Parts: sequence; structure tokens; C-alpha cells
Amino acid sequence: MLMGTINHLLFRRLLFAWYKSHQRSLPWRITKDPYKIWLSEIILQQTRVVQGLPYYERFVAKYPSVMALATATEQEVLRLWQGLGYYSRARNLHHCAQTIVAQYDGVFPTSYRELLMLKGIGPYTAAAIAATAFKEVVAAVDGNVYRVLARIFGLTYDIGTPQGRKQMHQFATLLVDPIQPDTYSQAIMDFGALQCTPAAPFCTTCPFERYCIAAYTDRQKTLPVKSNRLNKRIRYFDYFILQYKEVIYMKKRLKSDIWKGMYDFYLLENQQRLVVDQIDDPLFTLAKKHQLPITTFEKEACHLLTHQKLFVKFHKIELTSAFLQEAKYLLSQFSLVAFNRTEIETLPKPILIHSLLKKLNFT
Ligand code: ADE
Repeated sequence: MLMGTINHLLFRRLLFAWYKSHQRSLPWRITKDPYKIWLSEIILQQTRVVQGLPYYERFVAKYPSVMALATATEQEVLRLWQGLGYYSRARNLHHCAQTIVAQYDGVFPTSYRELLMLKGIGPYTAAAIAATAFKEVVAAVDGNVYRVLARIFGLTYDIGTPQGRKQMHQFATLLVDPIQPDTYSQAIMDFGALQCTPAAPFCTTCPFERYCIAAYTDRQKTLPVKSNRLNKRIRYFDYFILQYKEVIYMKKRLKSDIWKGMYDFYLLENQQRLVVDQIDDPLFTLAKKHQLPITTFEKEACHLLTHQKLFVKFHKIELTSAFLQEAKYLLSQFSLVAFNRTEIETLPKPILIHSLLKKLNFT
């Protein structure tokens, strides 16, 4: 088949036609309430639609307005967020709600620029809210959009670099529909999520097939270009060894992640290495409030797994009974259980944890 040529008008026309018959009916799409749109975007940064949906429903039911969310306690918000991970997102959500109430009278700012100034709202989220709720002509560019544009237009900008992402963003901005930026942003996201999927896109049923450079040149697997694609996934772990006299608090790993079913310590994972002062975590904050002695092991461990490279820091915190009383809820919320020496001996543990316990003469 001969390749066709595509311009921005045809692109939008085909995208809108596809969206009309394939769109998912999602609760944040039948509202123009920026609060609900914001909530959905924050949740969806964390998880996929199927998993995020019940969280969204629970949040909206419990906190139907930004005012309701702002008056909740942080602990309540964390609890509702529980299971989504990345608890700083939930704290930012709460903090942002409070800012909107305190500084904007509970009314969401309506422009991309103002939205961007709020804590926890980055360029993607600001654009998604501005476009969807306020019809501002801005491009909400997430992984879905990178993929769709790189493939259809054969863009080789490296989205592993800030420069590449910027070029991609500029390109994406030119395509936004000036009349319906709201529908456009939802359409391109759904198209990426349902049709132009990462691993095995559905090219044979794709309306762009005859215009798509990736399909034409068989480069679906290599577009978009992401420079560190072949590298191991790098993760930063901060482990907290919570010790009270002869017991240590440990946690069974339940997520479908490395070491499922084994025991480790209280763990924080971050996108980059944090210095201790930057750690934003309820248990850690409480420990600081109680002025507990915190010993950070100087040496960062580098732990290699088949597809991952872990950079691990250990921090030992000696607990007091006063702290334990106040932290009871948090400890159980994080499923931390006190084990003595003999019990620890019998628990299955990753080697990294086992070695550390050995260093502490705990096994
Ligand atoms: N992923 C991120 N935002 C989304 C939205 N609004 N709809 C569907 N999937 C999304």
C-alpha cells in the first residue's frame, strides 16, 4: 500500500473519528469540574485507568469538593490513597487543596500558567486540566502522546532527554485542536492507551495505518526513541530499620514487585537519591518530632538484579515507647510488625536485608 501524507487537519479528523467510536466512558469525562479532573489526573499518574477508577470514586464520594479535601486530615487522605503508592503525591494533593482554599477561595485557577504554580501540578497535569476543564489550547503530553506522535510522524526526538521532550512538546502543541482542545486531549490519551499501545499496537485496525511512518517502516518497537531504554531500571531505596530494644519492625512484601513474599524493613523509594533532610514521609517526620537518634549508614549499597539496579541506603532509628504510642497507627498502616531475634532468623529475607541484619548482629 502506498503511503499517504498527513497534516494536522487530517490528523485531528481521524483522531476525532476514532475517539467517537472507541472512547471509554469515564466519570471524569462527563464533568467540567476542574477539581475532579485534577483528582483523576493525579491518580492516573500513579496507576492505570482500571486500577485508578475505584480510587477516584472513593475520593469523589468522600471529598466531593476541593473544600472537603482541604479540611480532611493528611492521615485520612493518606489512608484513602493507601495502595496507590508514592505517598508524597497524596500529600501534595492534600496540600494543593489547602492552597486552593486558602489562596484562591476554593476556586481552581483557570489558566495553564497559574495551575503550574501549584505544588504537585507539573506541566502535564496543568495542561490536562487547562485543556479539559477550561478549553485552553495547550498540549497535555504524557507517555501516550509521545508514543502516538513519534510513531505516526516518525519523530526521532529522544524522550530520554529534556531536549527531546521539549521538541516533542513543541510538535504536540501544533497539533492541538483550537476549537476542542478538551476532547482532543482525552482522545489522544485514549488512542495511545487503547490503539497505539506500547508493546503490540493494533496497526491493522488503525485509522492512521496508511499515514504512519512507524507502521510503514516497521519501527513500532523503536519509536519513540528513549535513550536509556536498554539500561537497567534504576531504583533508589531508603530503608529504615526501626528498632525498639530487642525487636525490629519488618514488613512482608506483598506487591507484585521484586521479593514478593519476603520480609524487609520500612522502605521508601524515590525517583532520585534524596538527602535525609528531603525525606517527606509521615513515619520519618514523627521520628524527627520525637528527636529519635537516626544513624544513616554512610555507604550506599548498589544491588544488581536481572533487570534492575538498586541503590540502597539504610537508616537506623532507635525507637522510644512514646514514639511507639504515637506511631501505632502508622506502623500498622504500613504493615510493620515487631519481630524478635529468633523470629527474624526464620523469616525469608532478601540477601541485602539479611546481610544488614548480620552487620547489626541481629541474625
Ligand atoms: N491517563 C492520564 N489521564 C487520563 C485521562 N484523562 N483519561 C484516560 N487515561 C488517562
